[in-house]
Amino acid sequence: MRIALLGGGGFIGSNLALHLSTLSQFEVTVYDRDAAKLQQRFADSSACRFVSCDVREDAPALASAVSDADLVVNLIAHVLPKQFIGTPLEVVELNLHDNLRVLEACVRFQKRILHFSTCEVYGKTGGSSEPFREDLSDCVLGPISNHRWIYSSAKQMMDRIIHAHGLNGDLDYTIVRPFNFVGPLMDWIGPSEHAVPRVFASFMNALLEKKSLPLVNGGSSRRCFTYIGDAVRAIATIIQNPEQTRNQIINIGNPGNETSIAELAALMRRLFEQQTGETAASDDQYVSGDEFYGKGYEDCDRRVPDISKLHTLGWHPEFDLEQTFAATMAYCRKNHAALLALPR
Ligand code: UGA
Repeated sequence: MRIALLGGGGFIGSNLALHLSTLSQFEVTVYDRDAAKLQQRFADSSACRFVSCDVREDAPALASAVSDADLVVNLIAHVLPKQFIGTPLEVVELNLHDNLRVLEACVRFQKRILHFSTCEVYGKTGGSSEPFREDLSDCVLGPISNHRWIYSSAKQMMDRIIHAHGLNGDLDYTIVRPFNFVGPLMDWIGPSEHAVPRVFASFMNALLEKKSLPLVNGGSSRRCFTYIGDAVRAIATIIQNPEQTRNQIINIGNPGNETSIAELAALMRRLFEQQTGETAASDDQYVSGDEFYGKGYEDCDRRVPDISKLHTLGWHPEFDLEQTFAATMAYCRKNHAALLALPR
């Protein structure tokens, strides 16, 4: 099976490419606009093909990437909450408009697409304590003035258009919804004053710089973190089961790994001290969402996936919360110099 990974130089794409290339039935081509990123992330790998091109700007390159593949995996996205707040129109441009061009190419060339949606599509819990279910849960978003939700809305629109193509009978798709994947090559590790990455990288940067960990609105929000190694196995399982996953939306997450962000800060501080023998800065720093991200931020209070669909396919997560963060933190410490040199 020839697989085109579009936007494949990022966190999920690079881990997925390296995993798929260990499985003999797949021939993987990674497309990314950032050639330097491809070179650094895949320096040791001869198992994938790489094409440096911007499929958003280059229609012939997109047509050839899609027409040459049996399966298109679309990972092109802006995914950082700081971007949702800081550059909302760019978020819509890429996550909706540019992605529609990928979708149109898949329809035109009649290619199966594995499209990456997001757990953000579910929005807030709206008072429910039930795990999010792909075909049953409501999507509950805040007001327009809280423009953090622009990303969720753009991704939701993509999901709805893909679903409508399925109803039309002109597209074979699977939509996946990742729930807070963590692991090597996530976001960036680097001086914290230059960036507002997702929570793992933010806390790791603070620990490495001996600073307090910033707890947005006190860290009461809850997430379920999923180790990237478990996640790429889940994605491979979906790819290997095209009949069962045809025209389905599938959550990928680990409901057993639920934690509040304040508890996560305590866990990462403890692991850092265990791994380094050094003392971490002791106090967490309370920071409001508006101060940390900018005006318009509102948080998802709790995100728990229902993963019955993946259970039916025989997939189960293996890394518990402590193993997930211990492995990722050890990787970051060991590769700190190389990570600092990675393109932002
Ligand atoms: C982000 C993106 O919005 C989604 O696109 C993506 O699917 C998701 O990550 C994911 O990784 O799957 P979010 O869960 O809000 O969503 O991710 P983080 O930025 O890692 O934030 C998690 C929680 O930690 C939030 O409550 C945030 O306010 C808090 N946080 C973040 C802190 O308390 N301190 C920090 O330094 C950073």
